[in-house]
Amino acid sequence: MAIKQSEQMFERAKKVSPGGVHSPVRGFRGVGGTPRFIQSAKGAELLDVDGNRYLDFCMSWGPMLFGHQDEEIAEAVHGALGRGWSYGTAEPYSLELAELMTGALPWVQKVRFVNSGTEAVMAALRLARGATKRNKILKFDGCYHGHVDSMLVRAGSGLAEMASPDSAGVSDGVASETIVVPLDDLKAVESAFSMHGKDIAAVIVEGIPANNGLLLQRDNFLSELCRLARAAGSLVIFDEVITGFRVAFGGMAERTGLRPDLVTYGKVIGGGFPVGAYGGRADLMDMVAPAGPVYQAGTLSANPVAMCAGIAMLKKLKRENPYKKLEERTEKLARNLESIARDRGIALKVQNYGSIFWSILGDVKTPDGFVRTPEQTPATQKERYAKSFHAFLEKGIYLAPSGYEVSFMSTAHTDEHLEKFKKAFSEV
Ligand SMILES: Cc1ncc(COP(=O)(O)O)c(C=O)c1O
Repeated sequence: MAIKQSEQMFERAKKVSPGGVHSPVRGFRGVGGTPRFIQSAKGAELLDVDGNRYLDFCMSWGPMLFGHQDEEIAEAVHGALGRGWSYGTAEPYSLELAELMTGALPWVQKVRFVNSGTEAVMAALRLARGATKRNKILKFDGCYHGHVDSMLVRAGSGLAEMASPDSAGVSDGVASETIVVPLDDLKAVESAFSMHGKDIAAVIVEGIPANNGLLLQRDNFLSELCRLARAAGSLVIFDEVITGFRVAFGGMAERTGLRPDLVTYGKVIGGGFPVGAYGGRADLMDMVAPAGPVYQAGTLSANPVAMCAGIAMLKKLKRENPYKKLEERTEKLARNLESIARDRGIALKVQNYGSIFWSILGDVKTPDGFVRTPEQTPATQKERYAKSFHAFLEKGIYLAPSGYEVSFMSTAHTDEHLEKFKKAFSEV
């Protein structure tokens, strides 16, 4: 496969941007080699600057649930562009998107739009601190909540690849306000609350931890967590940046029937445009400026083009309700991949939920056979994933460039695409 143009661009990019990219995992550090410079995408396919085509399972890290260049979203965006693309005023598009959300999600009584998942988390944490007048936040080891200073403590995502899980530049003071507990360990949660309960403003948790692989939790994990938090007077924040509108319209709050106090959204909600949101109980949200004393603002927040993309996305999701079919297809694919590996005597497990899946390359040594914490991922993961990632690339399959990131199925993935993937999988 010729990748001359990508190689040349990467050399140029490294001279002008850190690591040659604008978000760490894009730089291929975890798998080695040259990132492909993608010039266009349609449906489930990417086209790079050298003319190579790839079947995409990264899907822009989750937002492209209907595939690239979905026609309804494109039409909404083109329509929005004809009306100007930023006013810095009140406008009707964010009102429509907010009404769509609050009308469908009972736990989102009010919502504020921002530009990314990180911003949504940052604002939700500030609001939790402002509302409870407590400072500490409880998070889980391996959960990623964006690059908010206080959350860069034993996080996942790009940090799962780095030697130290903590980022330089996060002050000890900020880090000391984050309490980190292991996943799959309700006893640890209980003791954290009994030790620090009166100082904990909120517990934040990914609906399903999906930034250090897909760390499936036991059925009672979220419900017990909510119970323990409430008993301590702490708020519950579901970070549904990945799971929101992805595993169900209402994400994990819908699937579990649990009611978080605050929720953060990103990715799917913007249909691939920069949209984040935080919402929840009206009494809490009314503490946000200008209604209340917790400050949060944004020049480009609720950008009308991004809002129109979000409206088109959510309306299509409501109308087509693609979740059951996506989940069945993902489940079938996951079991097919395991059976291909089994036939060849290769240790491989695929953990999946909704339309998210993650391949574990090695022997899982836990009693129930599931990987639920970062430590349970076999030591072989990094090296085997890096090798197979490049073999897949050569066959025109684009997976996330890290063994600790998940893959996403979209409605644009056809039966033929999945056959192509299985064939490549078998050969790899
Ligand atoms: C669960 C979760 N929260 C927050 C974020 C941060 O979102 P963004 O990258 O849009 O800032 C991410 C990003 O992957 C995420 O997966």
